[in-house]
Amino acid sequence: MKVGVPRETLPGEHRVALIPEVLPRLKAAGIDVIVERGAGTAASFTDAMFEEAGATLVAGDAAWSEADCVVKVQGPTLAEVEKLRAGQALVGLLAPLIEPALMRTLAGHGVTAISLDAIPRTLSRAQTMDVLSSQANIAGYKAVLVAAEAFGRYFPLLTTAAGTAKPANLLVLGIGVAGLQAIGTARRLGAVVRAYDVRPETKEQAESLGAQFVTLRTAIDATGSGGYARELTAEERAAQQAELNGVIAGMDVIITTAQVPGRRPPVLVTADAVRAMKPGSVILDMAASALGGNCELSKPGETLRTEGGVTILAPENLPATVPISASQFYARNLGALLLHLVKDGALALDPAEEITAGVLITHGGKVVQPATAKLLEPAPAAGGASA
Ligand code: NAI
Repeated sequence: MKVGVPRETLPGEHRVALIPEVLPRLKAAGIDVIVERGAGTAASFTDAMFEEAGATLVAGDAAWSEADCVVKVQGPTLAEVEKLRAGQALVGLLAPLIEPALMRTLAGHGVTAISLDAIPRTLSRAQTMDVLSSQANIAGYKAVLVAAEAFGRYFPLLTTAAGTAKPANLLVLGIGVAGLQAIGTARRLGAVVRAYDVRPETKEQAESLGAQFVTLRTAIDATGSGGYARELTAEERAAQQAELNGVIAGMDVIITTAQVPGRRPPVLVTADAVRAMKPGSVILDMAASALGGNCELSKPGETLRTEGGVTILAPENLPATVPISASQFYARNLGALLLHLVKDGALALDPAEEITAGVLITHGGKVVQPATAKLLEPAPAAGGASA
């Protein structure tokens, strides 16, 4: 089987889907890799390194046209979909629940679409393939560095001949994969770290990394399914907000990571709470997207400075700004999935097997993943007779 690695085209996407290190294991499983010249350059994996690891370097669209399976980081543009033909497979972060119409287009082209963000993460044998965790980990690390850069003070406590610098008070909201890495990184930089989440099990995890868990008087347990949080009720939100506002006001730096699967990210830092923060404070909203963010004022991809002197950052695609490590982990995750799906040098997809059932979005001209297919169902006609 030939796997094609084209160059990523999204502006700022410096990752590459496969790296030289992974190629020998793929080769041993009957997978030949063809790489578009320059595909790894932005992540410092040169053409020569790929060639040395056994890849065939190609120019133009050959990584699409000559491959049985094309592997990417980002989902395809419409122009890239046109490069695919029936019977080919496409693997990447396809975001089927956000882009269901694109999945229908891929199905219409007869493409087998396999999405890495749909790996069943709680299955222990799928953990080596868990791209969401590997990339969230990198994002949590980089978020702290970006916030530290925007902050006009030291993070650590320093005693010098010129006097003492107080340590920064940093709050992490949302203690999932990214939040835990943010806690660890901020602690290593010397900040005093507090952290909060609506899943009680995160208290011990945060404390083990040296953060103080923020316990609200209104105890909320919003543990949802699959290790995720559920959306809060309006009453829970109001109670949480009132108490959190008091904590936020005393913070120098806030990193927010809170997400609820399939829902808008919860607003945890309101415009009023930002107004109460000290000049020079920094908020970095990792959840900001077109759907909204954890800070009411954040704008994806932009850095704002409020009249009160608070900097609000909402960087898009943080993993791509650490391209070597992010590509390494992405490629190892992707390699593990390919080795799982390939038998005797060809894709052998068994829709009854749990990992395959999770990641297989389109096959045989149809959208086969139930959650995506459901989003594509026509809306029920309004005004139907009630039972
Ligand atoms: P995520 O990106 O969906 O959310 C980040 C965090 O925000 C979560 O910890 C969530 O509880 C929190 N959150 C949501 N609403 C909130 C609110 N209103 N206030 C405060 N915090 C809020 O989560 P991520 O990082 O993708 O995964 C979360 C958890 O899923 C992991 O910590 C783990 O427990 C579980 N998981 C389990 C895996 C496994 O069993 N192999 C693999 C991956 C994740």
